[in-house]
Amino acid sequence: MAPKPKYSRFQQPRKTTSSSSSTILTSLLIFTFVVLILLALGILSIPTTSSSDRVSKPNDLTHIARNSLHTSTSEDDDDDGNGEQWTEVVSWEPRTFIYHNFLTKAECEHLINIAKPNMQKSSVVDSTTGKSKDSRVRTSTGTFLDRGLDKIVRNIEKRIADYTFIPVEHGKALQVLHYEVGQKYEPHYDYFFDEFNTKYGGQRIATVLMYLSDVEEGGETVFPAAKGNISSVPWWNELSECGKKGLSIKPKRGDALLFWSMKPDATADPSSLHGSCPVIKGDKWSCTRWLGINEHKNTTG
Ligand SMILES: *[C@@H]1O[C@H](CO)[C@@H](O)[C@H](O)[C@H]1NC(C)=O
Repeated sequence: MAPKPKYSRFQQPRKTTSSSSSTILTSLLIFTFVVLILLALGILSIPTTSSSDRVSKPNDLTHIARNSLHTSTSEDDDDDGNGEQWTEVVSWEPRTFIYHNFLTKAECEHLINIAKPNMQKSSVVDSTTGKSKDSRVRTSTGTFLDRGLDKIVRNIEKRIADYTFIPVEHGKALQVLHYEVGQKYEPHYDYFFDEFNTKYGGQRIATVLMYLSDVEEGGETVFPAAKGNISSVPWWNELSECGKKGLSIKPKRGDALLFWSMKPDATADPSSLHGSCPVIKGDKWSCTRWLGINEHKNTTG
């Protein structure tokens, strides 16, 4: 009778050990994952519950997520006008967000002060020639602030880049605008229909519109082509007749409005049509930063 081979081809006992140890390993892994998931859920639920008391709904399509973006130097200080910073989703068509207290009161005043001596009648871009022209559709006065003009301007430009994820170099020079009673900007698109204007920064992706003053009445930023229930915004009853013609945002000093002229697939978003309603009482100061798909070569306008 042949002796039993010392090493079986199948090594039955060994196989059993390895499969039972892999079972233990698998259960350990599963256990670890479960613990990790529980930990992650526990950590994520803390900010949600602590801020849920402040969440409200601006309209049926959207929600407000209130987060402290970064700790302001002075706490909720209403005297300084440097209130809490948080982001409000206003609409997804167009993609529109309010960054509350994006600028401090001092920054707003600084921008107005350096712009004031150079204010000129605003012009619009002629869609056939691509040149600037005077227009009755835009009756404000304004001026461009050279890019990187001073430390405060550089800080604001950097902050806009941080918030939009679009590099500083893609921004056109900040434009400060002043609207007095009756002055307005009829609804228009920020993207171009001509070749001429895309030569500096390329097609426009997004716009950041900062309010440098409160406006007693009128002066809303209106999106007449916005989708959704425009009358469900909490400030509906405070809007002017013009403001009720679309989704409207009331100017508030220090707040910044970010809206996208392009959809995520890089096609133009027609729902980004927007205008500035006539000021009825008070006056409106704002500051605009246009962001393009390319680096903006012109630093002065
Ligand atoms: C729009 O919202 C307002 C306020 O929330 C509500 O009264 C109205 O019924 C809504 N309209 C529609 C068409 O859903």
